[in-house]
Formats: sequence, structure tokens, C-alpha cells
Amino acid sequence: MSTETLDIAKANLPVRGFLKVDDLLIPQGEELVQAILDLKKEKNAVILAHYYQPPAIQDIADFLGDSLQLARQARDTDADMIAFCGVHFMAEAAKILNPTKKVVLPDTQAGCSLADGCSGEGLRKMREQHPDALIATYINCNAETKAESDIIVTSSNAETIIKSLPADRPIIFAPDKNLGRFLSKKTGRDMILWDGSCIVHEAFSMERIAQQLAEHPDAKLIAHPESESAVLDLAHFVGSTSALLNFVEKDDSQKFIIATEEGILHEMKKRAPHKELIPALVFDDTCNCSECFYMKRNTMEKLYLCMKYELPEIIIEEELRLKALKPIEEMLELSKTIK
Ligand code: 13P
Ligand code: SF4
Repeated sequence: MSTETLDIAKANLPVRGFLKVDDLLIPQGEELVQAILDLKKEKNAVILAHYYQPPAIQDIADFLGDSLQLARQARDTDADMIAFCGVHFMAEAAKILNPTKKVVLPDTQAGCSLADGCSGEGLRKMREQHPDALIATYINCNAETKAESDIIVTSSNAETIIKSLPADRPIIFAPDKNLGRFLSKKTGRDMILWDGSCIVHEAFSMERIAQQLAEHPDAKLIAHPESESAVLDLAHFVGSTSALLNFVEKDDSQKFIIATEEGILHEMKKRAPHKELIPALVFDDTCNCSECFYMKRNTMEKLYLCMKYELPEIIIEEELRLKALKPIEEMLELSKTIK
């Protein structure tokens, strides 16, 4: 019996629906960086990245920011392609805001526990139960959920927007109960809360953080508002990713305990190279709980592939896009003064 090796790359196989093997050879190291830069030029693309992305992606991005800043950048870009290095709801918001651009996301599995746990149908039911309420929804949700909302907020503009809502209307806040509770305390507004949370920020352990503070009495605890109330109550400062970065850069303290996803430390070290940055402890040392598993699905290799093949692409049906656009545009209008 004769044996033959099939050279798939050379064989004249039909390639419809498949990628040729040759095309999947992905450059590595410096060559990968250069290949992404070449694709960016060739396709007139812009790379937008969130602070929780892997360091190499943060370094190659044209713009690095929090959810609000990234949404604005996506709306305003004149590039033909937006390579969105973040999670799905962020790339979807970019498409909602700038529908004529091609928006690609390195990995479509880059989801979010908050977005996954809330649906448009769920919000419709809440509205039926509280017909006079306004629905304020955190941007960490999918397009259907946005379409059922009266206003969208991000962690950096939520307080300003909630304060601007008519005092005689009850507020339904979805999907993050921790952010909702924090906002309710800050603004004095009663809120009907959706029962959702971020799996990353919920993993911080108040007991262990209290111990860290006792060990480092000169450190300040700073936390993202998706953390649980017990952690937020202990914190010296609570804010969005960009607010946390600014705080560490400008505050007089030299030591900080950071209760948010650890990807932010990459940019924090750049902005405050001489300060001591201590990641807050999670309840279980055996897990990488302070890493957002979804954010870290994106890699440089997948970024290269998505730019090369212009896939996976975010597609959104026009009627839904227009419904979801309305509360996002209102948010952008109400938070014009927020950087
Ligand atoms: P920021 O808008 O503060 O960057 O938060 C996004 C997010 O998903 C935090 O978990
Ligand atoms: Fe979602 Fe939490 Fe990941 Fe942010 S850190 S994207 S809220 S799962």
C-alpha cells in the first residue's frame, strides 16, 4: 500500500468557506506587530482598545480608553475599519454609533457577565411592573437591552446622568446592582435594581483587602464601582477606569491598592512609574479572578487575523440599531463636559 502525504497548501482544494492553510501562518513577535501596523495602513483602520486588554494590544492601539471615551472615538473616527479590542458590547456600541464603518472584534466570545445576564425582554417586563419608571442602563449590555432603555450610562458619567433625571420619576437601574447601589447612595435616588453583577469585581474580598490596608497603612484603596458595597465603603476613591488612572497619577500618595481588573496596571505603571501599585486580593488565591476572562480572549494573533480577513464583523439590523442609538445619543449629549 503506497502512502502519500497530502500537501494541503498546494492541493487545488475548493476554498469557498475555508481559509487556505498558507493564509493562517501568523507572524510572531516584532513581525506580528509590523504586520498589524501594515494592515492598519492598507485598510485605513483604527485600533481602539480598553484598559483591560492584554498589554501588547494596549501598546499597539491608536486609542486606549474607558467605555465612554471609546464610544466617542468610534463615533468620531473617519477610518474605514474599526478594530475594536474590548468586549462585544463595546464593539456593538461602536457599530451603533458609526454604522457605515466596518467594525471587527478579534474574538466574538469576548462577552461580559453583566451583558449576558440582562435581556431586552427582561427590561420590558420590569417596565410593565413599574410603568412610571425611567430605565437607566449601564452600557455593559447588548443592543436589545439598550433599545428598551430610556438612557444609557457608563461608569464615568452615571452619577451626572442619574442626578439629571426628573426627581418625580422612579428609576429602574440595570444590569449592575453594585453600580446601582453605589449610585443610589451617591445621588439619594431610590432605584429598582436589576440583579446582575460583574464576575471580576465581585471576586474581591473585603476581608483580605482590609488586611492589605492594615499591612500598608500608607496605601489608598481605589475601586471600580462594579465592586461590592463592602469594598466600595472601604475605598478612598471610587471611579471609572479612566478616573482611577487619573487619581493614581495626580494624588499625593505613593502607594495604592487597586480593586479593578489587573490589565489597568499596565497603563497605571506608565503614568505613575515611581508609585507602588498593589492589586487588591480576591477571595481565592487559586484563580486568576481579577483578570477578565472575556477581555483576555483577544490576542495579538486574533487582532491580526480579524484585520486581515475583516472578520468577525459586527452586524446589526437597522431598526434595532436606531432604537439602541437613541439612549446612547442622549447619554453622549448629557455627558459632553465629562472627559
Ligand atoms: P469603564 O467604562 O470604567 O472602563 O468600565 C468598563 C468595564 O467593563 C469595567 O468592568
Ligand atoms: Fe464585563 Fe466585568 Fe469583564 Fe468589565 S470586567 S467586561 S463588567 S465581565
